[in-house]
Amino acid sequence: DNGAHVPVLVIGTGYGGSVAALRLAQAGVNVQMVEMGMAWDTPGSDGKIFCNTTSPDNRSYWLRTKTKQPLSNFFGIPIDKSIPRYTGILDAEDFSGITVYQGRGVGGGSLVNGGMAVTPKRENFGAILPSVNADEMYNTYYPRANAGLGVGMIDPAWFDTTDCYQYARVGRKQAQRSGFPFVFVPDVYDWDYMKQEAAGTATKSALAGEILYGNNYGKKSLQKTYIAQIKATGKVTISPLHKVTSVSPASGGGYTVLIDQINTNGDTTVTKTVTADKVFFAAGSVGTSKLLTKLKATGALPNLNSEIGKGWGDNGNVMCGRANHIWDPTGSLQATIPCGGIDNWAAGGAFAEVAPLPTGIETFASFYLSITKNPNRGTFTWNAGANRVDLDWQTAWKQPSIDMAKTIFDKINAKEGTIYRTDLFGVYKIWNDTLTYHPLGGAVLNKATDNYGRLHGYSGLYVIDGALIPGNTSVNPFVTITALAERNIEKIIATDL
Ligand code: FDA
Repeated sequence: DNGAHVPVLVIGTGYGGSVAALRLAQAGVNVQMVEMGMAWDTPGSDGKIFCNTTSPDNRSYWLRTKTKQPLSNFFGIPIDKSIPRYTGILDAEDFSGITVYQGRGVGGGSLVNGGMAVTPKRENFGAILPSVNADEMYNTYYPRANAGLGVGMIDPAWFDTTDCYQYARVGRKQAQRSGFPFVFVPDVYDWDYMKQEAAGTATKSALAGEILYGNNYGKKSLQKTYIAQIKATGKVTISPLHKVTSVSPASGGGYTVLIDQINTNGDTTVTKTVTADKVFFAAGSVGTSKLLTKLKATGALPNLNSEIGKGWGDNGNVMCGRANHIWDPTGSLQATIPCGGIDNWAAGGAFAEVAPLPTGIETFASFYLSITKNPNRGTFTWNAGANRVDLDWQTAWKQPSIDMAKTIFDKINAKEGTIYRTDLFGVYKIWNDTLTYHPLGGAVLNKATDNYGRLHGYSGLYVIDGALIPGNTSVNPFVTITALAERNIEKIIATDL
């Protein structure tokens, strides 16, 4: 409420924010969570909370009048369509040279993502978070995160026989024929539920094409895991459609937090002021970086150090499709939840998830999202004239990612006698090199903050989300974000409360 004083305010309800709120509440602290997106707990007129990928409506995109689908074309024909402007679930946020996809709502990215819940290989961890004790992470915090998130693995015997993973079996066969290891990837999807979907005994979600705009049944988003536990403590208030715009030191101690309450057009209806003893920035890599960059530059938090806004990376994301021969169909029914990938990280710097193309028809296409060791890093800066935060990324900075992904797909194409699809991202365009699903960095651990996320320059201000991770995790990032948050909040509760 306007004028309230709270012990802890958490900005954002994604992975980092949910871990912080739960552990603080369990330690007896009252927490106020502030989320700019909607609650996503009420069905629409079609009886569903979330809309389907094949028929995006106002619920699909954050304040856009046209969809911006990652796969924008089919046979070269643009497939984006007009939608009513609304505080929808997926933000396709445009910066120079890159569109950054993010979830908006209570649950953050967990609402929209594929649920791939991957712990990086131990030997890669030193390059991911160099200042963090790997033994502690692999013995304590990764297991804690996996348990809290409800991570599970597909039944390999079922994988071998079910129609809905034909596309992944084609991906495995072709990878192995070219000498690449195919690895199963864990996910937070309820695999028993998916078996029931396939058997026709449960309402379909992964098998109904639901992905990107929310999943109505089988996926264990944060709403079903950490946030359900948060609600059970009775110590946390969550305010959706509230956007934090400023944090600055309060005269009597603590921090003054300015919050815009918005309506579903995105317009501010009320501006509120809350005082908080401690503030956790958990607005996601982009959200946290934008806030801190602006607050430092405009004088609200001038003592933040010069590392703010730096070290931002795209986790090396790049997409491509391949055209298979007529004797290698990938299936008209495709589960939207990926379950495997091609690992050429050590030799070529790429880990490619075999992704679905759930069109409902046979396409003979294989589709991949590669995570690569792209070395390029961007910086956020305050643009006073335009009153916004810019990111200095360039599309050409994806070239190393394309080269790394090609170490896998050029070889597979040569072995199979196949070619790349050139019709999925425009007209004659092989690579989608203008997006990321995995923004990381901008307030890097042990640089902008100390080794536990305490912001330099201000006691009682913390970063606890993907902004802490310096640009790459070698695999999909949310398990690492969650595990790092578990590690940091344990230390903060033990020493700072
Ligand atoms: P996260 O982005 O989850 O949460 C931040 C929250 O803060 C958001 O809810 C946002 O609305 C809110 N916020 C921002 N600014 C605010 C402000 N000023 N005031 C109030 N609230 C504010 N990862 C993975 O490991 N496996 C996968 O399969 C996938 N797949 C995938 C698909 C797609 C389409 C996307 C977009 C992303 C993925 N990801 C993924 C990435 C993963 O979802 C992402 O890394 C995490 O959600 C990031 O977690 P954070 O806690 O950092 O922020």
